[in-house]
Amino acid sequence: MGPLYDGAVYPLSLLVDWFGPVAAVRTADALDVWPDREERKPSRPAHVEATVEFASGPIVRLTASLYAPHRSREFNSLELHGDDGSLYLADSGALAADRDTVSVGGSGRQYVSAPHPRPRRERRYLSGPERLAEALERGDASTTGGRRAAHVVAVCNAIERAAAEGSRVGVDDALTDGIRRADSDSPSTRPPRRGPATRSDGGGRAVDSPAVRDAAIRLPPVGFGCSRYRDGEYVDRIDSVATALDAGYRLLDSAELYGNESRIGDLLAAPGSPDRGGLFVIGKVWNTNHEHVLEACRGSLAELGIDAFDSYLLHWPEAWAYQGPLSDLASKPPAEQERLTFPTDENGDPATVDADLETTWQRLEALYERGLTRTLGVCNVSLSQLRRIADVARIPPAVVQVESHPYLPRTELVEWCHERGIRVIAHSPLSASGLLEEPAICDVADEHGVSPAEIALAFHVDRGVVPIPASNDPDHVVANLAAARVRLSDADRRRLGALEDPEFTRE
Ligand SMILES: NC(=O)c1ccc[n+]([C@@H]2O[C@H](COP(=O)([O-])OP(=O)(O)OC[C@H]3O[C@@H](n4cnc5c(N)ncnc54)[C@H](OP(=O)(O)O)[C@@H]3O)[C@@H](O)[C@H]2O)c1
Repeated sequence: MGPLYDGAVYPLSLLVDWFGPVAAVRTADALDVWPDREERKPSRPAHVEATVEFASGPIVRLTASLYAPHRSREFNSLELHGDDGSLYLADSGALAADRDTVSVGGSGRQYVSAPHPRPRRERRYLSGPERLAEALERGDASTTGGRRAAHVVAVCNAIERAAAEGSRVGVDDALTDGIRRADSDSPSTRPPRRGPATRSDGGGRAVDSPAVRDAAIRLPPVGFGCSRYRDGEYVDRIDSVATALDAGYRLLDSAELYGNESRIGDLLAAPGSPDRGGLFVIGKVWNTNHEHVLEACRGSLAELGIDAFDSYLLHWPEAWAYQGPLSDLASKPPAEQERLTFPTDENGDPATVDADLETTWQRLEALYERGLTRTLGVCNVSLSQLRRIADVARIPPAVVQVESHPYLPRTELVEWCHERGIRVIAHSPLSASGLLEEPAICDVADEHGVSPAEIALAFHVDRGVVPIPASNDPDHVVANLAAARVRLSDADRRRLGALEDPEFTRE
């Protein structure tokens, strides 16, 4: 066997799956290089280079070499470059790839590792042929692979011919007709197919009724928090939002209070950003705008450059005095931002107004009816406040966002929501004092070979709650998304469950 059939078949199979059939081999060259000192010599040229043209457009430069040894770091690597960005796959033949083997580089940005957000399915060596043999024994028709594999072999044959003849060779393969281009909606941008309710997708042990499962909206297992607040200060988070999108986060938690919607909008409009349809964008109306939700929502949509939110939430149940539109807060001096967002009365207390929760919810429903948001939700509610909303709602809440972590699991509220198909989002999942140094969390993390933060996030994913961690550290951004793949045991759950602290208050 030469390097085409030993190595090139792996990346070629992936490329044919993604881009469909190869139309032609434009150029090819085969070198019969091999060290004289070696006793055994490949029967075909040890080094082959080719330029391969796919019928759907992409051009691939292929280097297949046995001269560069198998253990070379670059064996089986694949780079894809498009107008809007690049993708690097370290090992296209891997059966058990590490999380770091796929990297994405948005246009003009550094490569970022993109961990797969779903639990990893372990594959043993040769498990593919074993499954094929079992299917043949059962008499099942082959569902994938046979025609594609034959086409890949036809491409290798064409590369050999092109190298021998020194000319372009068409891949006029009868089997090509059976090769379909993979769905252009790639797995990394497609919203997760399964809802929160099945144990197998890592979501929702609390829910198992099909009706509730169907009612609940589909969310990525982990989202990204876009708040600019960090330890009482405003910090710029735009670079980390860009990193998060490249790493594969597909849920962004934004709010007019965070003041950076226009900068997120610039990012979403830039080349290389995910398609709008593959993103779940959350917005929130601030406390000063309970009586002006239409103005607030339209302003946020305009700044973000989108037509509608996937979910629009009430940031807090309490209403404060109106201060005018809160547009582009990040561009204003901090004192001005504070004045606009935290109005106080003559005693220095929050300037509250008498806007009842039920009426505010009805105003939000009007936004839904105008098509400005696909779903509605509420943050920072107690169960009794949530019941009040549910009692009057014509459009029931689809999302409830509350602070939650192992000290504050909010079990009763989470179960109440899950029984009704309401998704729960955990804000501030990592920043409770002492959480990431908590011995039980550190022990579970050590046993899984991950960081305490990943365990604190896996705690939510495991029970069907979506955590929205924030981070300015690219390594943390990547690791936090990978937390969705951690599988907790019953013993882990018991240890994390024992951390509940009924006295917990945020300092
Ligand atoms: N609805 C609401 O009222 C509400 C309220 C609060 C927050 N939220 C939402 O929740 C989001 C997150 O909450 P938050 O901003 O309070 O932050 P958080 O996610 O609870 O914690 C962020 C802190 O954790 C650190 N961190 C992140 N990943 C880490 C890792 N893998 N290892 C070690 N440390 C790590 C960060 O430092 P590094 O930067 O160094 O990683 C940062 O100091 C907000 O952005 C916002 O979207 C909503």
